[in-house]
Amino acid sequence: MRRLPPVLVEDGCSRELVSLIRTILAACKEISFRVGQGALSGVLGSTLDENIQGETQKKLDVLSNQLLKDILLESGYVKAIASEEEDTTVAGNPDAKYIVAFDPLDGSSNIDINSLVGTIFSIMEVDKESDPADPTIFLQSGRKQVAAGYVLYGPSTMLALSTGKGTRIFTLDKTHGSFLLTHDYAKIPADTNEFAINASNQRFWTAPMQQYIEDLLAGKTGPRGKNFNMRWIAAMVGDVHRVLCRGGLFTYPEDTKDPNKPYKLRLLYEANPMAMLIEQAGGLAHTGQENILDIQPTEIHQRVAVILGSKNEVEACLGYHQ
Ligand code: AHG
Ligand code: MN
Ligand code: MN
Ligand code: MN
Repeated sequence: MRRLPPVLVEDGCSRELVSLIRTILAACKEISFRVGQGALSGVLGSTLDENIQGETQKKLDVLSNQLLKDILLESGYVKAIASEEEDTTVAGNPDAKYIVAFDPLDGSSNIDINSLVGTIFSIMEVDKESDPADPTIFLQSGRKQVAAGYVLYGPSTMLALSTGKGTRIFTLDKTHGSFLLTHDYAKIPADTNEFAINASNQRFWTAPMQQYIEDLLAGKTGPRGKNFNMRWIAAMVGDVHRVLCRGGLFTYPEDTKDPNKPYKLRLLYEANPMAMLIEQAGGLAHTGQENILDIQPTEIHQRVAVILGSKNEVEACLGYHQ
């Protein structure tokens, strides 16, 4: 089986980019080990702190963030980092040309129940002359990502990665510590009969989204003329992984539950990297108004509505939004 570094070299990635991706993965292997140890490594449970998003941080959120942050800033490959768990960006090597935005641990509510969690990352390029302390260097559209990926800490640890030449899936061989290519060029089927929503929010959604889901639930005798199945892992990495493997529609749409927070998922380190992986596998990622990858960000912790997955199904959903 092919290992990750030669695959990236064949794709024409610069040596620096390959090293940067390997650096991120070194931290992910450590996180994978800690997650696997669970209660034995004393990483379960919450801290007394809140992050800038107003969420109580789990011990593993903080630990994963620290591991990624330290290794990236020490590596010399990054000019700056942005993280879900950091109030603002953190400067690195002024001479570097890459910046990395990451969700160190996605699916925090799954930690204490030994369920799926993961790490999501997005790599962008900046001018060598730009200021490492300037957070606005991160305000680039998702189209400009040079690489995006996630590492899923499940029964096996898997990496989905795109450098703009398709989406590939690797599995961590824990005996040797290398990521081996186990699924070349993921291809999301255009049609699906599976969707992923947190149905408890349904009454807070906009009318078009409520109508769309109602029509899916109506099944074979409803307007869609077929039965649909539903899944919800409560970790975007897990839900997107399923969509990459067998298709489906995933949405975390706009809602009115908290008037100050109409969207849940964050653009720079959740929606954008996932959108790149999905598009590179033939799927579609949209907000209902625009393609996620075309959004010009205005803030590093900005949130967006997300509708992604099988192309024809996402388009069917968008039809309700016109
Ligand atoms: P995080 O754990 O990084 O804060 O992200 C959690 C996100 C996302 O992974 C998931 O799709 C969603 O929150 C689940 O939300 P609900 O708990 O509302 O279902
Ligand atoms: Mn969080
Ligand atoms: Mn997340
Ligand atoms: Mn997180």
